[in-house]
Amino acid sequence: MNTAALQDAARVLRRAKRLVVLTGAGMSKESGIPTFRDALEGLWAQFDPEELATPQAFQRNPRLVWEWYEMRRRRVLEVQPHAGHYALAALEKRLPHVTIITQNVDGLHRRAGSTDVIELHGNITQHKCFADCRGAPTLLALSELIGDSVPPRCPHCGAYARPNVVWFNEFLPAEALTRARDLCLRADVVLIVGTSGVVQPAASLPYLAKRSGNAFLIDVNPERDEIAPICDLFLQGTAGNILPRLVELMDA
Ligand code: OAD
Repeated sequence: MNTAALQDAARVLRRAKRLVVLTGAGMSKESGIPTFRDALEGLWAQFDPEELATPQAFQRNPRLVWEWYEMRRRRVLEVQPHAGHYALAALEKRLPHVTIITQNVDGLHRRAGSTDVIELHGNITQHKCFADCRGAPTLLALSELIGDSVPPRCPHCGAYARPNVVWFNEFLPAEALTRARDLCLRADVVLIVGTSGVVQPAASLPYLAKRSGNAFLIDVNPERDEIAPICDLFLQGTAGNILPRLVELMDA
């Protein structure tokens, strides 16, 4: 890793007044959660999203989809945040405004102590009514689900329960997306970590920040991703390695 680039990034971060951190699956990889597009281990290399991650797939085969997400939910509950998650949480003590906008559904940022986290794609540890019978999202605790079926059912309307995640062909939670866009328009620094930058609308957020003319963009990824060309600094490396070093350098 280029130490000068790391020092430059630390210098920029130290002065940040409105920091936005945009994270993707690479952020959680060192906690033991696979990414989506890794050629060998990625979830979408092994499973077909059309069969597992759309409302149509759930309607065709609710049991298969439910069990796949339950398997992933159990995995998420077994793993722990890593040093990179804790480094991001530690930024809150050093900077006036830090918001994490994540595409990850694992809840690891909050578990590491970050307090302002926008979950653009939902949270896999939560469940909701497939019909959203009491407004979107109609969140349901596992303990209140009824019936012997797999998936179990909503106690209010009898529709199947489903994970509270955003599937392909679905809209992102409107409030989360509006706030994310607004924060990117006003950010002075955007730190992008572990995303391939190919899934919209999340991938458009750094462009929004860049177009506003104010933001300095820093990208952390072991590989050059789709967003790297518009970034002011590209820090090649993993989240678990780079982020703690960045925070250390901010304090130096
Ligand atoms: P991807 O799997 O597309 O990309 C993961 C990125 O993380 C790649 O650019 C990797 O190079 C990088 N990476 C791998 N290991 C890393 C590490 N240790 N530290 C930092 N970066 C690392 O994941 P996302 O960009 O998050 O959507 O994918 C976006 C969305 O596509 C997901 O939220 C999901 C998926 O379909 C939904 O499920 C709605």
